[in-house]
Amino acid sequence: MMRTRRQPRGATALPVQASSQSSQVLMATLGAPVVGGALILAFLLALAGCSDSGDPTGAPPIEMTPTATYAADVQPIWDAHCTSCHGAVASAGMDLRSTAGTAMLVGVASATYGGSRVAPGSPSTSVLYLKLQGDASTGDRMPLGGAALSAGELEKVRLWIVGGALDN
Ligand code: HEC
Repeated sequence: MMRTRRQPRGATALPVQASSQSSQVLMATLGAPVVGGALILAFLLALAGCSDSGDPTGAPPIEMTPTATYAADVQPIWDAHCTSCHGAVASAGMDLRSTAGTAMLVGVASATYGGSRVAPGSPSTSVLYLKLQGDASTGDRMPLGGAALSAGELEKVRLWIVGGALDN
């Protein structure tokens, strides 16, 4: 680009004028690319800023409401802590194996305490949730004789009930 402009002018009879002229032309021509380059640089910096915020796609962050599903989040807790008693043996007439699904929990009256085992949307009135917390109104804490569920496990059960206690 620069060479093809200079060479024809340098070939004229007035090399000095030609060169000062061509440097003016050069400045004028370079003006646009320099401004453009600055814009591109600013754009790239902005992009880099975006990826710093942890979203490489540059998409706006989406507000996520934490949820829990029965099959993926809750059933594994029952499998690990409950089915030894609430399985084939079915203490309190309650089977918590995956084959039973939510049929023995949601909207089913407690065998011993007032209210439902699980009241959709309402952990604080669900006998199951109260028993996991060791609430005085619902007898022994579950799992009976074992360590209490972790805060993370309890939260999954709570989120599942809050989300409507779906068979999902
Ligand atoms: C060692 C045996 C054992 C384990 C393990 C156990 N339970 Fe129980 N569960 C019982 C017995 C016995 C009862 C009946 C006495 C009572 O209500 O406390 C019962 C009752 C319950 C009830 C009350 C049912 C009703 O109709 O009132 C719920 C809810 C419950 N268990 C949930 C669980 C959950 C959830 C787990 C696992 C986190 C669990 N249990 C682990 C023995 C166990």
